[in-house]
Amino acid sequence: MLKHKDVLGLYELSAEEIDEILTVGMSMKKLLKQNIKRLPHLQGKSVTTLFYENSTRTRCSFELAAKYMGAHVVNISASSSSVQKGETLVDTGKTLDAMKNDVIVIRHPMGGAPALLAKTVQAHVVNAGDGMNEHPSQALLDMLTMRENFGSLQGLTVAILGDIRHSRVAKSNLFGLTKLGATVRMYAPRTLIPSEIGRMGAVVCRSREEAAEGADVVMGLRIQLERQHAGNFPSLGEYAKFYGVNEEVMRCAKPGALVMHPGPVNRGVELTSTLIDGETSRIEEQVLSGIAVRMAILFLLTKQEI
Ligand code: CP
Repeated sequence: MLKHKDVLGLYELSAEEIDEILTVGMSMKKLLKQNIKRLPHLQGKSVTTLFYENSTRTRCSFELAAKYMGAHVVNISASSSSVQKGETLVDTGKTLDAMKNDVIVIRHPMGGAPALLAKTVQAHVVNAGDGMNEHPSQALLDMLTMRENFGSLQGLTVAILGDIRHSRVAKSNLFGLTKLGATVRMYAPRTLIPSEIGRMGAVVCRSREEAAEGADVVMGLRIQLERQHAGNFPSLGEYAKFYGVNEEVMRCAKPGALVMHPGPVNRGVELTSTLIDGETSRIEEQVLSGIAVRMAILFLLTKQEI
């Protein structure tokens, strides 16, 4: 049973809570693999997705996860809602609460927006990505994919390379993976890695080869062009050549090491196309894990009320 009303980040979830979400997520994934998509777990519940930023994977998979478990689902994007008329986040939340929503899944460009919403509504709030802060369901689906492949996260070495400064995925993975006993290495150009990341538990490396050396998993992160201020790196071509993950970098990792990426991928920038489409890539597997883990989150949050 989750001890929290909301899922706002992996910083505040305990190892036991994370482990429970992954265990339920593994069961959900088995059902999905058998093409079972009519489950009763959320019957009579309402889920609203409230997205102030673009999304393909996260929004769509929360919607499918809720629908596969029998919930009523409403999708709101800020660009077509009363937010455009000046309605505040808190007032939008109160409106959704008055409509008897059980869960609000929110993505927002401001770090902390889901926490603010959670304080002011009765509905369970799930953070679907807030600014540069956290993206807990993404990290949980990454962890589920790793657990499926390795059986356990304890003792794994995960190398994360890319735009760590702007990445909520990097932070959620760092918190979640280290709580479950994995080592997280990070590497990026100096301009794309925050100085405090070492204090947060990451092993900061001096080269991509050092980061990948003996790793079980190598995860590329998207260069977030929409959040860049000028001068973080000379050009995408140079980023790919000097900082991207390619076959030579992967040769430093354990034989058969997994290639992962949360998506969307800038093909040929963070990872080569050959690696994205290769045998050790788990990028498509991550997408299916995404529905499973979001089913687990929605179910575990609402089950205490059944
Ligand atoms: N990984 C991820 O959050 O993808 P979307 O932006 O498509 O949701």
